[in-house]
Amino acid sequence: MSKKQLYDFGMVGLGVMGRNFLLNVADNGFSVAGLDTNKEHAKALEEEAKGKPAMGTTNMKTFVASLKKPRKIMLLVPAGKVVDIVIDGLLKHVEKGDLIIDGGNSFFVDTDRRLEYLKDKKVEFLGVGVSGGAKGARFGPSIMPGGSKKAYNKVKKILEAVSAKVNGEPCVAFMGKGSAGNYVKMVHNGIEYAMMQLLAESYDILKNIGGLNNEELHQAYKKYNRGKLKSFLVEITASIFTQKDEMGRGMLIDKILDKAKQKGTGKWTSQNAMDFGIPVPTIDAAVTMRGISSQKKERVAASKILKLRTTKSKVAKAKLVKEVGEALFFAFITAYSQGMALLVDASKEKNYGLDMEATARIWRGGCIIRATLLEDIRKAYSSNSDLPNLMVDKAFAKHLKGTHNSIRSIIKRGIDAGIPTLAFSASLAYFDAYRDSRLPLNLTQAQRDHFGSHTYERTDKKGVFHTEWK
Ligand code: 6PG
Repeated sequence: MSKKQLYDFGMVGLGVMGRNFLLNVADNGFSVAGLDTNKEHAKALEEEAKGKPAMGTTNMKTFVASLKKPRKIMLLVPAGKVVDIVIDGLLKHVEKGDLIIDGGNSFFVDTDRRLEYLKDKKVEFLGVGVSGGAKGARFGPSIMPGGSKKAYNKVKKILEAVSAKVNGEPCVAFMGKGSAGNYVKMVHNGIEYAMMQLLAESYDILKNIGGLNNEELHQAYKKYNRGKLKSFLVEITASIFTQKDEMGRGMLIDKILDKAKQKGTGKWTSQNAMDFGIPVPTIDAAVTMRGISSQKKERVAASKILKLRTTKSKVAKAKLVKEVGEALFFAFITAYSQGMALLVDASKEKNYGLDMEATARIWRGGCIIRATLLEDIRKAYSSNSDLPNLMVDKAFAKHLKGTHNSIRSIIKRGIDAGIPTLAFSASLAYFDAYRDSRLPLNLTQAQRDHFGSHTYERTDKKGVFHTEWK
C-alpha cells in the first residue's frame, strides 16, 4: 500500500486571495492542501495547481489529517468572527505544537486575544499582515508576521520563498511580539488611505483647475511614475485613465460613482493613533474624505443650496503638473512620516520590539504602498534607528524644504477654486506644526486653567502653576 501523501502547508479559505497564496506556495516547491466550504473553490485549487501536489477539500478532519506535523495552517478568511469560528473548528483536530497563521486584515486587539487563547491550548499562533491584493498573493506579496519568533521560524522558509523580492531580498521579516504583524499591516493600510486620498486630490486639481483630459492625466501620472514618485499606486493611477468603459461610451473613470467604501483598517489606524496621542492628520483626512464621499445624496442636495462663485487660477498645464508632482512628493513623505512615527510609539506602548528598518525594507516590494521612497526610508532608519520622525532625517528634510512651495501653491489654488484638499492641507499643516518651536497652544492651556483650574507650566520657571483669572 502506498504511503498517504502528506502536505507541507495548509490554507483555510480558498477564495481568490487564499487560493492564489497557496498556488504561490506550490510554485515554490511545497506541497499544499486547502480547505473551503465551497466545493468549487476546493476543486479550482486542484485544477489551477496544474499537476503540482495540491489537494482541496471541504472536510476539516480530512484537511488537518493531510498535513505534515507540526502542521502549518494559514487562514485567509474574512476578518472578525469567522476567524474565531475557524480556529475553534481547527482546535478539535490539531495537536500541541501545530501552528495556526491568521493572514487576514484582523484587528490587532483580536490577535492579542487569540494569542492568549491559543497559548493555553499549546497551539502556536501568528498574526500575519499580507499585502499586495490578489496578484501579490499569487506572485509575491509583502508579508508582516508577528507573534513568537519560534513560531515564525517554523514557516520562515516558506514565507521567504513566496514573498516579493527586492534586489534579491525577501519582503518578509519577523515584525515583533504579539500582534505586531497586524499592527504594522494596519498602519500600512492607513498610509495606503492617505496616499490614495492625496492622489484623488491631485486628480481633482489637475482635472478641474488645469483642465487636463484623461489622456493628459494618464501622461502626467506616467511621468510622475518615472521619477521620484515611482510607486505602485501612482502606476495604477496612470493606467486607470486609459481604461475604456466596456458597458458604454467613453472612459470608465468618468462612469464610476464618487463614493469610496472602506473595510476599516484606515479608521482603526486613526482611532488607535488618537488613543496613543500620536498625530496622523493625513490619514485622518483620508478617512474623513471617504466618509464625506459616501454622503452622496446630501452632497448633491447641498451643491444646489451652497452654490458659490469661485475663481480658478490660470496656470499653464505643464507648470501645474510639475507643482502637483512636487506637492504629492511632499505629502507622501509626510504620510509615511506619520505612519512610521505611529509605529515607533506603538512599539514602545505594546512592547513589540519593531525594527523600523526591516519594516521599510519589506514594504519596498509586493505591497500596495511600495515605492522607491521606501528605500530612502530604509536608509534613514539604517543610519539612525532612533529617528523621532522621518521629516528630520537630513535627506527628507531637504526634500521637504525643496517642495514646500509647490504644496502651498496647489492648496491656495484649491482654496480659490473651492476644491477640497483636506489631505494636502493636513500634510502641510503637520509639517508646519512639527517645525514650529512655539505653537499657540499656550492659549489653550491658559483657557484650561481659566475655566477648570487645570494648571499650566511656564516658559521661565519650573513647576506647575494656577492663576485666579480675573
Ligand atoms: C493590501 C490592501 C488590502 C485591501 C484593503 C482595502 O495591502 O493588499 O490594503 O488589505 O485591499 O484592506 O481596504 P479598504 O476596503 O478599507 O479600502
